[in-house]
Amino acid sequence: MADRKATLTVDGLEKPIELPVYSGTAGPDVIDVRGLGAEGLFTFDPGFMATSSCESAITYIDGGKGVLLHRGYPIEQLAEHSNFVEMSYMLLFGELPTEAQYKDFEARVRTHTMVHEQLANFFKGFRRDAHPMSILCGVVGGLAAFYHDHLDITKQEDREISAIRLIAKMPTIAAMSHKYNIGQPFNYPRNDLNYAENFLYMMFSNPCEPYEINPVYAKAMDRIFMLHADHEQNASTSTVRLAGSTGANPFACISSGIAALWGPAHGGANEAVLNMLDEIGDDSEDNIQRFIDRAKDKDDPFKLMGFGHRVYRNFDPRAKVMKETCDEVLAELGLGDDPQLKIAKRLEQIALEDEYFIERKLYPNVDFYSGIILKAMGIPTNMFTVIFAVSRTIGWISHWNEMISESYKIGRPRQMYIGHTQRDYPAE
Ligand code: SDX
Repeated sequence: MADRKATLTVDGLEKPIELPVYSGTAGPDVIDVRGLGAEGLFTFDPGFMATSSCESAITYIDGGKGVLLHRGYPIEQLAEHSNFVEMSYMLLFGELPTEAQYKDFEARVRTHTMVHEQLANFFKGFRRDAHPMSILCGVVGGLAAFYHDHLDITKQEDREISAIRLIAKMPTIAAMSHKYNIGQPFNYPRNDLNYAENFLYMMFSNPCEPYEINPVYAKAMDRIFMLHADHEQNASTSTVRLAGSTGANPFACISSGIAALWGPAHGGANEAVLNMLDEIGDDSEDNIQRFIDRAKDKDDPFKLMGFGHRVYRNFDPRAKVMKETCDEVLAELGLGDDPQLKIAKRLEQIALEDEYFIERKLYPNVDFYSGIILKAMGIPTNMFTVIFAVSRTIGWISHWNEMISESYKIGRPRQMYIGHTQRDYPAE
C-alpha cells in the first residue's frame, strides 16, 4: 500500500481526489491514477511523455545523467566484461548465470539455431528486393505455425522454450533474409561457433569459398548485440507488452515489436543515419552547417538522424561505447579516416556546439555510430535495423515474460473524444 498520496482538486468537483503515490527502487515516484475513472476523469498524455505503463525490474534509465542499468549493472561494464548470451540470460532470468547455468543456457541457444526446413518456403513469397525487415516481420510471425508443442503461456517452461527458440533463431532468419535479398543460398547455422560468429558466418559464408571469421568483427558484432539488447519501455517493447496483454503467442508479439522498431524515429534510425551521411557527402564546414540548419528549420522535415532521444537529456551511454567500438574496428581495418566517420564526427562536434541542440539537450543516440561499424564490416544498410531487432528480441521477450509471469490486465487506453456528439441519420 502507498504511504504517500497526491491530492487533486478539479474545478467543478465537490471534493479533492486523493491518489496513492508509489516509489520504485530508483527513478521518479509514480502517481496511481487508476482511481480517476471512478470520478469520470481520464489522464491525457499523447506519446506517453510522463506515463509509466508497468512495474519492471529489467532496465533502468536515468535520462538526465545518461545512466543505463540492466538488472542493476551499468551498460559500460557489461559491454566490457560480459557477452550477449550471458547478458541475455541475465535479462531473462534476473541474475548473472553461474558457470554451469551459462554453459547450459549457451548450449540450449546453440542447439536451437536451426529453423524448420519448411520455413524456407516463406521467403519465396517475397520479391527478391523486399526490405529484410518486411521478411523478418512475416517469417517471425509465422514461427507460431511450427511450434504448437510449447505455446501454453501460462507455463513457465513453455515461456522459457519460446524465449530460447526466439533468441536462437532470430540470427538465422535475419541472415536468411539477407541471403534471399542477394540471391545466394541460405547457410545452416553451425554449432561450433558462438552467437556472433555464427551470425557472421550465416551472413557472409558461401559454398564457393571458405569463410574465415574475423575476430575483430565477431567481438564488434557481440558488442553491438549487447548495446541494443534492451531499453526499458521504448516504443517497440511497449508494443510487445500490449500485444502480449491480449494473450497472443510470443512469436506474434515479437513480430509486432519488429514492426514498431522499423520506423525511422526508432530502430530504423541506424539505416537513416547512413543514408543521411551519404546525402551530406563531405565533411566541409559549410556543407555540414547546411544540414544542421535544415535540422533546425521547422518548415523542413529533415532531422539529424541518430540525434535526440525521448529519455536521454545527456549522452546516450550506448553511443559512447559504440563510438569507441567504431574507432577500434575502423582502426583495425585501417579505415581510421573513413569519410563517413569523418562526417559523423564533424557533425557531432558542430551540433553539440550549436545552441539549438544544446537548448533541447539533443545528443547522439545509440544509432549514430552503429551504422558506420556495420557498414565497415560489409553489412548492407538495409540489414542495420534487422540486426537491431535480432538483439532487441531478448529485451522484448524478457519484458513479455516479466508481464506474463505476474498478474496482468489487457492494455486498453482511452481517449479524449473530439468528434461529433450523437446526431440522427438524415430522414429519407
Ligand atoms: C531509438 O525510446 C527508446 O529507448 C528508443 C531507443 C531504444 O533503444 O529502444 O533508444 C532506440 O529509437 C533511438 C532514437 C532513434 N531515432 C532517431 O535518431 C531519429 C531522430 N530523433 C528524433 O526523431 C527524436 O529525437 C526522437 C524521436 C528520438 C525523440 O523524439 P521526442 O522525444 O518526441 O522529442 P521531440 O520530437 O519532441 O523533440 C524535442 C525538440 C523538438 O523541437 P521543438 O519542437 O522543441 O522546437 O527537439 C527537436 C524537435 O524538433 N528534435 C530534433 C531532433 N530530435 C528532436 N531536431 C532535429 N534533429 C533531431 N534529431
